[in-house]
Amino acid sequence: MASDNKARFKGITACVFDAYGTLFDVHSAIRHGGEELGDRAAEVSELWRQKQLEYTWLRSLMGAHADFWQVTAESLEFALSATGTGNADLHRRLMELYLTLDAYPEVKTTLEALKNAGLATAILSNGSPKMLDAAVQSAGLQPVLDLALSVEEVGIYKPDSRVYQLAVDRLDTQRENICFLSSNGWDARGAAHFGFHVAWVNRFQREPDRLPGELGATISTLAELPPLLGIG
Ligand code: LAC
Repeated sequence: MASDNKARFKGITACVFDAYGTLFDVHSAIRHGGEELGDRAAEVSELWRQKQLEYTWLRSLMGAHADFWQVTAESLEFALSATGTGNADLHRRLMELYLTLDAYPEVKTTLEALKNAGLATAILSNGSPKMLDAAVQSAGLQPVLDLALSVEEVGIYKPDSRVYQLAVDRLDTQRENICFLSSNGWDARGAAHFGFHVAWVNRFQREPDRLPGELGATISTLAELPPLLGIG
């Protein structure tokens, strides 16, 4: 596999990362602050994430954009109410914890390796600027990230092509020079369909989505990225 993939990932000058689920563990909010949910914790966390994503797609189709902070709050409200768990106080605490999500363990060293190799690094995320700034700060990633780009600049969510175009414009490069990383299968496909070289970070051993866009590689954690690019 390695030699084939390396050929595909030639000419990369920038690595662009999805944030939630790829760099940051979205389930860490309930892990750290959801004790009172007891054995419903995992179910609530999954439902929160699923609804959050559905609301981004649906709002984009409805032409009714609201920022990711609002969507995250409304999807949490849904998840707590639908499962008959939680209250206003828990809702407030979990939203606060969303600003300081855990980064996956290999994230910082991977970004460091890319920077040391002279590549540009950026986040391209549904997250609002305030959410992204807080998460990057809390995980200490500022020194190893050049840019954190939010869909708020274009007012629509992934996988709309205007979002992926934002990375091309702001990094002042060509789409074929960008390596895009996402653990979200649908985001990986969207980015590949747009024309990025994409490595799907299949952290959760998910079934591949049947959607347009050819993946350049599938990896299980970001630690596999530098070798894929011929670094280190
Ligand atoms: C993001 C969502 C898709 O960070 O996880 O854009």
